[in-house]
Amino acid sequence: MEQKKTERINRILTHPSYKAYVFQNAEKERDRVFCHHDMGHFLDVARLAVILNLTEGYGQDAELIYAAALLHDVGRHIQYETGEDHALVSARMAPAILKDCGFSQEESEQIVSAIATHRQVEVRDRKDLNGLLYRADKLSRPCYCCKQEGACNWKGDKKNRQLIW
Ligand SMILES: [Fe+2]
Ligand SMILES: [Fe+2]
Repeated sequence: MEQKKTERINRILTHPSYKAYVFQNAEKERDRVFCHHDMGHFLDVARLAVILNLTEGYGQDAELIYAAALLHDVGRHIQYETGEDHALVSARMAPAILKDCGFSQEESEQIVSAIATHRQVEVRDRKDLNGLLYRADKLSRPCYCCKQEGACNWKGDKKNRQLIW
């Protein structure tokens, strides 16, 4: 990614609402024994998606990939309170941040669509940002070295038994 292409991404990272949401996720997950929805996860997803994008020819813009990955779980803390699917909560939270950070309406819609479907297996095989985010999100979890693997409710075939990238 060229230097200038990271400008809007860094605006997301320093956006007050974004920082507040990430902090609220951390507060809610303080005692969580399963996977967290934190900056480490967001960056794992972003970088995995960029690798898949390059190695499998998705043809997606790296800046949009990073934006989707950084924002895809920002609403997780709300799910702990209300039970609402955090993919939809995050998709609702993302547009205001994306607008403030200089993303166009068209770019925002593409990113928000990928966020909204990141838990829908139906998009897994799509060669677009939606499919890319879905796959990178699932591949990011290190089930092969997780102490809670036995108690985790991810179905067996979804768990990562070995490292891929
Ligand atoms: Fe998620
Ligand atoms: Fe995630």
